[in-house]
Amino acid sequence: MKQHYTRVTAFAPATVANVASGFDVLGFALESPGDEVTARLVEGDGVRIVSIASDEGLPELNLPTNPLENTASGAVLALMRSLSGNESEQLLGKYGIELEIRKRMPAGSGMGSSAASAAAAVLAVNALVGNPKTPEELVEYGMKGEAIASGSEHADNVAPAIMGGIVLIRGYNPLDVVRIPAPQNLYCTILRPHCEVSTKEARGILPKEIPMKTAITQWGNLAGLIAGLMKQDMGLISRSLTDVVAEPHRAALIPGFHAMKEVALQAGALGCSISGSGPSVFALSSSKAGAERVGTAMQEALVKECVGGTLYVSQVAEGGPRIVSAE
Ligand code: HSE
Repeated sequence: MKQHYTRVTAFAPATVANVASGFDVLGFALESPGDEVTARLVEGDGVRIVSIASDEGLPELNLPTNPLENTASGAVLALMRSLSGNESEQLLGKYGIELEIRKRMPAGSGMGSSAASAAAAVLAVNALVGNPKTPEELVEYGMKGEAIASGSEHADNVAPAIMGGIVLIRGYNPLDVVRIPAPQNLYCTILRPHCEVSTKEARGILPKEIPMKTAITQWGNLAGLIAGLMKQDMGLISRSLTDVVAEPHRAALIPGFHAMKEVALQAGALGCSISGSGPSVFALSSSKAGAERVGTAMQEALVKECVGGTLYVSQVAEGGPRIVSAE
């Protein structure tokens, strides 16, 4: 049996899904904020959520503690089912798992909150039972947890939350995830308006089919964005940060979206769009000072809408998730 632990705490970061032109297939991790999950081996069997806490200042949580309804435990149950015949299964045959979840970002924000909990949970439990799965393999189980919250199995939040950095979901059947190197000096501004948008609702308003012309524009932009990231070509990244598929339908769900986008671009952002399914809005910049300037401009635009907002600036980092402690 590989080394295993009795108590592991893992951190998984907030993520920006879609990145404008990559609806459901591209996402990247921030350095912070993120969620922490502690997993413990205990007498008994199955998975139990013993606590869900949130940082001060965040809206009150109303997350389910039923293991079948919570994203973190749902992901862990999927991981446990996959360990059949594996030596880690013998361990789980003797013990149960308790989860403590610490939310460090609000739910329904478009920053991958449900994915961060699912990601931290599978990272912690995988380490607990001797790391039988690679991070790439864990994405499959994280997705099962994500589906509980959003009603759909997409990996563009959960993959970067588990693997860190920028991740392309090349295909879903079978799952094929590709790490894309982050250019140095790529910074992300996120402004989270103080309102909620449910991912289920934001997915429900999208058309089931799109015209060929729209598809051609979108896949040109996505290919351009990947090429720009690989070549570290900020001009190409900037030209490619356009979403003609989801943003035109979802913008109306976000107070002041068009005003925030306009001032972000005026302030020098490479591009600006909706983070995941919103309401958070993200912009990319080629320097930290630039990202902060863009954030100030976006915040001023949001204030004019009489809506409060929380600002985050983070490098688009190579890392993100980590094991915080293992004993
Ligand atoms: N790709 C997903 C969406 C991300 O835009 O609906 C949100 O979970």
